[in-house]
Amino acid sequence: MDSNFYSKRRSVLAKKMLNNPIPDEDLFKILSAGIRVPDHGALNPWKIKVIKGDKLKKIDEEIILPEFKIKNPQAQPDMLEIESKRLQRASVVLAVISSPFDHPSIPEWEMRLSAGAVCMNLLSCAQLLGYAGQWLTEWYAYNKKVLSYLGCEKETDQIAGFIYIGHKTEEPNERRRPDPANVIEYL
Ligand SMILES: Cc1cc2nc3c(=O)[nH]c(=O)nc-3n(C[C@H](O)[C@H](O)[C@H](O)COP(=O)(O)O)c2cc1C
Repeated sequence: MDSNFYSKRRSVLAKKMLNNPIPDEDLFKILSAGIRVPDHGALNPWKIKVIKGDKLKKIDEEIILPEFKIKNPQAQPDMLEIESKRLQRASVVLAVISSPFDHPSIPEWEMRLSAGAVCMNLLSCAQLLGYAGQWLTEWYAYNKKVLSYLGCEKETDQIAGFIYIGHKTEEPNERRRPDPANVIEYL
């Protein structure tokens, strides 16, 4: 493992990415490595929906923007402009759906955690290949119409994250990181 990668890993804001396509070969690498996560009981309590090409624009214009307009009837044109291009900031968006179910011994909490692990793994795999990546939820991760369009079938299905992947224009600046002394204690 290149531990240097994890000590320097940094997300790139979706609005700063370039959205030209990424090769299918790289996307396959990201997806196939990304789903290799800890998962108690190998239940696979998550699904990934790959949104790329024309689908980015279609979902922006046919689902996200109309839903935003319904919830924000007074929205100004500059806000509508942002909402009309949410997904199109990226080359590809991976929607990770957490889909837990009743199990005799494995709690829902652990199934949720495994979905988070998928998000982090997909993000890291993309970043390791040199792509810009960001894990976002934003308002539309909690919108019923969006959830239904993406195939969330059960009431308990939730978006764990939208993993935005695109191209870097520049290396991102470092952001505030936790002070190890505040969050780690040796017992
Ligand atoms: C579950 C989850 C949801 C997030 N949703 C948002 C969001 O909606 N908007 C946002 O600006 N950042 C959001 N973030 C934070 C971004 O991923 C942020 O870019 C990240 O904290 C950068 O950290 P990194 O450089 O360590 O990857 C979210 C993070 C997580 C874990």
